[in-house]
Amino acid sequence: MGPLKKTLPKAAEAEAARAEAARPEKTPAPGGLSGFALDQIHHMDCVTGMARLPSLSIDLAIADPPYNLSKGGAWIWDNATALPGFGGEWRKVMAKWDDMTLAGYFEFTVAWVSQLRRVVKPTGSLWIHGTYHNAGIINFVLQLLEVEIINEIIWYKRNSFPNLSGRRLTASHETILWAHTGGARNRKYHFAYEDSKGMSFPEDSLKEPGKQMRTVWDIPNNKKREETGLGKHPTQKPVRLLSRMLDLSGKPGDLLLAPFAGSGSDCVAARKKGMHFLGFETDPVYVDLCKKRLEGSEPEDA
Ligand SMILES: C[S@@+](CC[C@H](N)C(=O)[O-])C[C@H]1O[C@@H](n2cnc3c(N)ncnc32)[C@H](O)[C@@H]1O
Repeated sequence: MGPLKKTLPKAAEAEAARAEAARPEKTPAPGGLSGFALDQIHHMDCVTGMARLPSLSIDLAIADPPYNLSKGGAWIWDNATALPGFGGEWRKVMAKWDDMTLAGYFEFTVAWVSQLRRVVKPTGSLWIHGTYHNAGIINFVLQLLEVEIINEIIWYKRNSFPNLSGRRLTASHETILWAHTGGARNRKYHFAYEDSKGMSFPEDSLKEPGKQMRTVWDIPNNKKREETGLGKHPTQKPVRLLSRMLDLSGKPGDLLLAPFAGSGSDCVAARKKGMHFLGFETDPVYVDLCKKRLEGSEPEDA
């Protein structure tokens, strides 16, 4: 750990400072970025893809990485069976991309967080999804790379699936880390604080209009028909969760990076908010699903 702690943050900081001096004033026009067409999902490993991006070229990022949860052998629950009284889609992911050794997962996390740290402007935000399986590792890597955590948000899923074994509590939340690349002595990240106080959501019993937003968000995990009608992803996030992140930390015209695009939910949310986006996804089936979803989505005020 010693050499990492000593060299990585310094190297990343020096690179960011060099790029800061040379950076253009505005986000590039939607013609492209380092050969990547904007407003598209690219079929590529995100670490390789991000390495091609210029430093400080991204306004904000939402990362929904593998949680490294695909363990434990066969699962007997039949996903096709509907449980009366429980909303939302529930699936246990069993995929190769989600099964790494602990050391491998740590190295993978260092690799993609380092790239995010380099490419996201200090005026922007990083939003990173997790559960107790991976959130501790991501938290540790953020601290190791001196990426300041702004808040830890609990996404409370009141309609979560019941615990079938009867040996644990019912898992009803996920963790979201909100961070920025500016550093503790250089806080420039955009936060729509006044707007956040005015926000209210019919489904969120914890957010009172006119009051500060808390770090517990009560957002049911069911998705609208328009979100799943063209196909589903086993860990698909509801667009209204991602929209809240964009409302808090982004502006129309910003460029969002989605390194783990999945079914493209982050990018659909960005399009609705009038933002540009760039996504990476390694599974061609999901790249195709993203494309179809994005073809059918428009800015909210269009
Ligand atoms: C947790 S899911 C994201 C789900 C997404 N938030 C949604 O709403 O559909 C993670 C996705 O990352 C993809 N993935 C895994 N490793 C990757 C990598 N190194 N680069 C890019 N995509 C990757 C997986 O194929 C999977 O679709």
